[in-house]
This record gives sequence, structure tokens and C-alpha cells, in this order.
Amino acid sequence: EKAGYKHFMAKEIAEQPVVLGDALRHYLPNGQLNLPEGLDFADLDRLTLVACGTAFYACSVAKYWFEQLAGLPCEIDVASEFRYREPPLPKRSFAIFVSQSGETADTLAALRYCHEKVAKTVAVVNVPTSSIARECDIALPILAGVEVGVASTKAFTCQLLVLAAMALKAGVDRGHIAPADLDEHLTTLRALPGLMNTTLGCSEQIEKLAERLAEAQDILFLGRGPMFPLALEGALKLKEISYIHAEGYASGELKHGPIALIDRSVPVIVLAPHDRLFDKTVSNMQEVMARHGEVLLISDGKGLAAASEGTWATLKMPAVAEPWAPILYAVPAQLLAYYTAVAKGTDVDQPRNLAKSVTVE
Ligand code: F6R
Repeated sequence: EKAGYKHFMAKEIAEQPVVLGDALRHYLPNGQLNLPEGLDFADLDRLTLVACGTAFYACSVAKYWFEQLAGLPCEIDVASEFRYREPPLPKRSFAIFVSQSGETADTLAALRYCHEKVAKTVAVVNVPTSSIARECDIALPILAGVEVGVASTKAFTCQLLVLAAMALKAGVDRGHIAPADLDEHLTTLRALPGLMNTTLGCSEQIEKLAERLAEAQDILFLGRGPMFPLALEGALKLKEISYIHAEGYASGELKHGPIALIDRSVPVIVLAPHDRLFDKTVSNMQEVMARHGEVLLISDGKGLAAASEGTWATLKMPAVAEPWAPILYAVPAQLLAYYTAVAKGTDVDQPRNLAKSVTVE
């Protein structure tokens, strides 16, 4: 069942180029966008995205995409807060619920709160027969295939792909994206499975880095823009399976408190593709190094050429056009968590205290 892999998590990480390819063939066939008719973003005042855990971080990445590519104001919240907040919702809005299982109790309750209040409810789910899929007006399958490992991996990248297709559709519907730009985005997305394969090739390198990470008590992840939620996801993945305390921060927030934690014993993982925000992130990274933090810089060739000096280690990623890097950088984040947990000897597929599907509040 594990197809020769030691853990389901390893298998599911490795499957990503294939399942992402399936999702791409479904949502971006023949260089076009393929989403249901009823999903028209033209006249909306707002989007609301609600989920838990890793699925919430997928929503958090998508917020950057919807706002930048479609000029659509976008609210995100974790379901356990959203459902009790009684937030007012504009009628001209969609509420989107992202859930691998489609059965998460808080997400389902948040969905039930939104019925009648918004123009449409939309499910982004892995299980098409699930409660959340059935109760939404529109259900979009992420096509990741069965995910067994408790730590969500391939579901996350497939959620991101579906949300990316939606953000592009929103950009087109709202006249925010020129046809030539759309083509470029579609080309970039369709290249992701190939780039992911390349990225999986750095597994051995990551396994070595993980030996050091496994000795740490605390680990920080930093990112800016859509890489910020990926920093949060990297920290969640690491803590849930290796039991090492980890936090993700927006790079620019570092100096507002967390920098006090930095010393030689704290590895800091910096997720920084060579994009518009690169120089800003690098200056935060240098603040860390000035305090003897051990930096692992994950970037592309250009980024590493510009900023490797003084780091503890680097990981080279293929270059990927903005704003899609989070889909690709999810892979090293997952592998770092995986190999650190393996080095610590924890139960990777069944971490303590956790369940795959959280159907109680
Ligand atoms: C983390 C993880 C959890 C889930 C969360 C939501 O690796 O798997 O944080 O993402 O429990 O579950 P779903 O997506 O089934 O609603």
C-alpha cells in the first residue's frame, strides 16, 4: 500500500507531480480555464475563505492571489473562530470552504452559518461525497486521491492549484487580467509538476539538513507575501510530526518581538524566491545572522547567488514566476518536516494526539 515507501507521508509527498498533473488536466485543459458556469466573480464585493489547519493556510495563500490578480477583497478565517464570530457577510459575496476530508466539524458549522447569507457557497474538497461537498452550492474536487498520512501534503498543493484556477477566473471575470498575462500564468502553472519532480530530487540533501534540525528545540520559518502563509504551514508540518516547537512569521514582523528568540541554537528557515520582495526578506535574514541564528535559505539560483553568504545552508529551487512559488516551495517544507521526524524516530503517519479527520469540535 505504501508502494515501497517507508511512510504514507513520503509516498504522498512523492505523488504530488502526478496528482497535481491530474488537477491541472481537469482545471486547465488545453491552455484554458475550466471551472463551473455558476462560478462568476464579476459582481462580487468580497470573498470569504474558511478552513482549519493546513487547509486554512491554503486559503491564506489564496488571499494574496485573489486580491492581487482579481482586485477582489478577501477575508480569511479559521472555522472555529469564524463560526462563533457571527460576521456580517455581504450578499454579493461567495463563501469558500476548503477541506481535505470535507467532514471537519468547525468548517461544516461555518458553512451552515453562511447558507442564505451569501450569493454562493463553494466547497474545495478531496472527498466529493463528503458533507461539506454535499451542502455547498458548488463543489470543486481537488483530485489529490486518498490521503492517508495525518499530515496533509498532496491535498495542500492540490488545494492551492484549485484556488489558483479560481483566482485566475476571478481576474478574468473582473477584467483584472489581460489575455496575454493569463496565458503566461497558465503556462507557469502547467510547468509545476515538472518543477516539482526536480524539487523532489533534493530529498537526500534535505535528509542531511534534517539531522541538524532534529537537534533543535525551536525552529523559525520566515516568509513574505504569499510565502508568509507557507512559513506558517512549514512550521505546522514540522511541529505536528517531529514535536519540535516551530513558528512561522512574516519576515517583517521579526523585529517586533520574535527576534529576541534568535541565538546559535535556533535554526531559521527562510523561504525566499527571487521575487519583488526578495531584498526585503534578505535584509530580515541578515538581522537573524547578525544575532548568530543559523539560516537555511531556500531560494532559486538568482536568490542564492545574491544572498548565500553567511548562511548555514542553502537549498536550490527551480525559478518559478510570481505569484505561484508557494505551490512549489511546499515540497521542501514537507520534506524538511518529514526527514526531521524520521531522524527523531516519531510516528510520522500517526502523530500523537492527532486524527486525520476532526469531526468533533
Ligand atoms: C495538518 C493537517 C490539519 C488539517 C485540518 C483540516 O497537516 O492535516 O491541520 O489540515 O485538520 O482538515 P480538513 O482539510 O480535512 O478539513
